[in-house]
Amino acid sequence: MPSVIAIANQKGGVGKSTTAQNLGVALAERGREVLLVDLDPQAALTTMCGVAVGNGAVTVAECLAGSAPAAEAITRPRCGTTVRARLPETVWLLPGSLALAAFEVTHAGAEDRQLRLRAALREVGGRFDYVLVDSPPNLGLLTVNALAASDGVLVPLQLEFLALRGMQALFQSISRVRDAHNPPLRVIGILPTMHRGRALHSDEVLSRVRERFGDLVFEAVVRSSVRFPEASAGGLSLLEYDARSPGAEAYRRLAEEVESRA
Ligand SMILES: Nc1ncnc2c1ncn2[C@@H]1O[C@H](COP(=O)(O)OP(=O)(O)OP(=O)(O)O)[C@@H](O)[C@H]1O
Ligand SMILES: [Mg+2]
Repeated sequence: MPSVIAIANQKGGVGKSTTAQNLGVALAERGREVLLVDLDPQAALTTMCGVAVGNGAVTVAECLAGSAPAAEAITRPRCGTTVRARLPETVWLLPGSLALAAFEVTHAGAEDRQLRLRAALREVGGRFDYVLVDSPPNLGLLTVNALAASDGVLVPLQLEFLALRGMQALFQSISRVRDAHNPPLRVIGILPTMHRGRALHSDEVLSRVRERFGDLVFEAVVRSSVRFPEASAGGLSLLEYDARSPGAEAYRRLAEEVESRA
């Protein structure tokens, strides 16, 4: 069975989708079969993978609703047109769409509403070594589905003033899901993101994060770089767009650490 990892933080714009994509490609470079799951109604990960979801296309929303099997929705991220693009053949995507937004409302009364993703992944899990689930910036039913379906949680944490605010709420949600639905769920690690160098106090925040969370914090630290949004705009991971950049190397380092902890 695969190692299922939820990428979660209810704070917006901390690098969750970027981490799902680049960690996925980094694991695939190491020879692993990887499925990226886009569980955010904004479907940023889907767009970042160069996938346009057309009318009538099957996405993870239909899988959660039980109207289509996940195998029908899984697709390959598009390599894009950049000559340097090199997408390992072992990366796959279960796309998201705005239709996910309706799930919380339409399934509010369903008894198994927290366990729909787990059920959907059960049928396809055998094909993959890792399933990385990108979650939306809130602690609602979709994030609960991500946590309930996962073996571990990876928390991207933006190195900025008030970085730690909100971590307690996230850890409480993780404990609640663990108690109610998923006893083995654990926090795999915290990934410091968007390190901006000394001038903006990133080092100070990073030491505070390490003081507070100790070994839970990965050695890999992702620096802030305009190459990330540039890569996404072209439907590429940074590992394809600028393979030797510090950002790409940070995600390769993260992949190594994740494999040693998973
Ligand atoms: N290390 C980085 N340096 C600079 N920009 C980054 C970095 N990581 C991500 N970004 C950019 O920051 C923006 C937010 O990143 P991303 O979408 O990965 O965050 P998110 O946590 O998934 O956001 P949301 O909560 O909205 O889903 C994107 O434009 C992305 O390209
Ligand atoms: Mg996102």
